[in-house]
Amino acid sequence: MLKLLNAEQTKLADQYTIENEPIPSLELMERASYTFVKTFSERFLDKKKTITIFCGKRNNGGDGLAIARLLHQDRYEFVDVVIVDFSDKSTPEFDANLIALQQTDVSIFYLKNPEELEGKQTDVIIDAIFGIGLSRELDQSYQQLIEKLNLLSGKKISVDIPSGMPSEGRLYGNVIFKADWVITFQRPKLNFLLPLSAPYIKEWKVVNIGLNEHFIENTASPYYWIWKKDISDHIKVRKSFDHKGTYGHNLIIAGDIDTMGAALLTAESSMKSGSGLTTACIPQSGITALNARLPEVMYLSRENLDNTDLDKYSSICIGPGLGKTEEAKAIIIHLISTYKKPIVFDADALNILAEDENLLSQIPLHSILTPHIKEFDRLFGEHHNCWDRIETAFRQAQKLQSYIVLKNRYTMIFTPTGLCYFNSSGSPAMAIGGMGDVLTGMISSFIAQDYPIENAIIIAVFLHGYIGEQLGQKMYVVPPTKLIKQIPYVIKDLKS
Ligand code: ACO
Repeated sequence: MLKLLNAEQTKLADQYTIENEPIPSLELMERASYTFVKTFSERFLDKKKTITIFCGKRNNGGDGLAIARLLHQDRYEFVDVVIVDFSDKSTPEFDANLIALQQTDVSIFYLKNPEELEGKQTDVIIDAIFGIGLSRELDQSYQQLIEKLNLLSGKKISVDIPSGMPSEGRLYGNVIFKADWVITFQRPKLNFLLPLSAPYIKEWKVVNIGLNEHFIENTASPYYWIWKKDISDHIKVRKSFDHKGTYGHNLIIAGDIDTMGAALLTAESSMKSGSGLTTACIPQSGITALNARLPEVMYLSRENLDNTDLDKYSSICIGPGLGKTEEAKAIIIHLISTYKKPIVFDADALNILAEDENLLSQIPLHSILTPHIKEFDRLFGEHHNCWDRIETAFRQAQKLQSYIVLKNRYTMIFTPTGLCYFNSSGSPAMAIGGMGDVLTGMISSFIAQDYPIENAIIIAVFLHGYIGEQLGQKMYVVPPTKLIKQIPYVIKDLKS
């Protein structure tokens, strides 16, 4: 798991690297700029395109000047620089890079007023006006400049972060450089992972500039980034004398007369994620049909749930297609009062909990709530801003001593101990009904298999997104049934 840092912590990592590698600040800037140019040149092969680099006068602008020199050295023929000269003082690193650039024949224009941009045309615009040092709303002239840049037709690329966007926290305003591509240093910035960045960033790529990883990993940040290696390390190897009893028994309480498919998806994903036994608890009327579709799963009539010993189940999930009836609420009350192990609550189970604060406060310790944004707001009140929602999620996960899996493009997992894991995998092709049911089945399946709860959630969330992402490269939309089919193959693949 990689630590994610805020802007202040990133600057400390810069400083630590400068002092302890040791490497002069100017050389670190050179390394960042070289890495940028290398990545840029792998995509932009045509060296005859016109490239204009807009540089502020602080260190992001310093990176921009070094990038201009390196692109020129790399034989990009038509590189020019616009220094945004709206009265700020320059940094020593900027000054040194300016002197170096002046030794080349790259043309440098000092822009004193955004109006001077009128008529500018270029194939590629590189934005190095502000980096992660942005700390307040842009003033009038910067806003005018960025609005004009956003109207130009060239490809737009930002160095580290689009100018006008803070690395984390609420946006200061809505005038932000609209980047087709951001080449960002060392780690994704927290705001890239939230829907607030969607209007401003089409695509981003992280490049390693050799900041001190030991320092980063020891920084006290609650944010982590889940990636592939974390998963393969955690998946258990099946041993030769293992039997179905080794892998637990998962009870799925889901489905109603007209939403039986939700129970099917949840049960099948549980079974395919490896739980030794899966039982689907559904209305009696659906059993014959589901039995025919999914013979590996056992069935329990919902009407008989009260007379069943729940302790024999190593994991229980409830909610997909459950309905919001009095009967469904009674099942949740029964479950919470009799089953003392963690329960996975999804969909209608969340909506029922949202209407009864007292019931919500009684869920077993270390339970898992898997809301999407709307369900989250029903549970904990309306939020108009991602960062307010994040603050509530941290608070509620600790208050309820439970996990909150906030489903989104980069799903966030909030823990009872105050951590937040961002998932790296996923695809917009997964935006289709039934995907959440699959995730619920996967999470409770890994819990049934006796994975530590945090690991069970992390593995399920990553795998779900990873398979969706792979299929999403070939399919416009990924039907949940297709994703489920891949689960056992991909788990096997990741482990070998
Ligand atoms: N309007 C006007 N000015 C503003 C605004 C605003 N809305 N918001 C912030 N500023 C000012 C800030 O006061 C800040 O000035 P300060 O440095 O005096 O506090 C400045 O603009 C911030 O400028 P940026 O270019 O955004 O930030 P910074 O100079 O910190 O550079 C950095 C960002 C470090 C280059 C980052 O993008 C990065 O990590 N790059 C890669 C590695 C690198 O090149 N490191 C630099 C090595 S040199 C060194 O660390 C000293």
